[in-house]
Amino acid sequence: MSKKLVVANWKLNPSTLEEADRIIKIISRAKITGATLVVCPPAVFLGRFTSRKMSLSFGVQDIFYETAGAFTGEYSALMAKSTGARFAIVGHSERRAYGETNKIVAKKVEASLKAKLGTILCVGEKERDTHGHYLSYLKAQIDESLEGVSKNHIDGLIIAYEPLWTIGERSRGAMEARDLHETALFVRKVLHDYFGKKALSIPILYGGSVDSENARTLIIDGQVDGLLIGRESIKPEHFLKIARSVTGAKS
Ligand code: PGA
Repeated sequence: MSKKLVVANWKLNPSTLEEADRIIKIISRAKITGATLVVCPPAVFLGRFTSRKMSLSFGVQDIFYETAGAFTGEYSALMAKSTGARFAIVGHSERRAYGETNKIVAKKVEASLKAKLGTILCVGEKERDTHGHYLSYLKAQIDESLEGVSKNHIDGLIIAYEPLWTIGERSRGAMEARDLHETALFVRKVLHDYFGKKALSIPILYGGSVDSENARTLIIDGQVDGLLIGRESIKPEHFLKIARSVTGAKS
């Protein structure tokens, strides 16, 4: 079994570099061998951590698709890489909520893969319905977010399935592992239709209200390759507890 990916998406947290430093110190001191831990802090903090030798990997929460020019406030995939990022989250639903379309996301995926970053493309339906419309929504979202990405350049592509109704404090909580398994199979099929056999090597992660109680069941029964964690990832002890439970280690 290959190592599971446990990815921390810190979002707009914490407020200071000192606090970020404190959290990183706790996480990096732990010895977790059965999983790859990736922390995606706010990009402005990144250089501070990647300049030190650590067992952790780091990523960014977004990148811009252009490589240089008059794009105030943006940073490119190559810039993120040169700062030490190995991963980039692309198309998170919170960015899509600010108007990021599938078309923009596809350009970012392409740029991120080109820079050879592990590219975590987030997809997920807003709501579930009993007629299966959410499946067509999901398929269209995946297809359009990958438009232009050639089958020869998908090394590093990772899909994070994050149904919107499971994300954040006001959500209904994580989805059932059984439903996750079914949906992950569907995502795998869509990827297979798109990329053929190569799709089998694309890791599929789950995200949405993951905590130390549900992490192991989601991984084992949901049969996914890793987890993308929001709220619980900013609390270092909770994040480590999740990582240990994913590997089957006692916390
Ligand atoms: P959550 O967020 O774990 O706080 O639900 C997940 C995400 O947005 O990636």
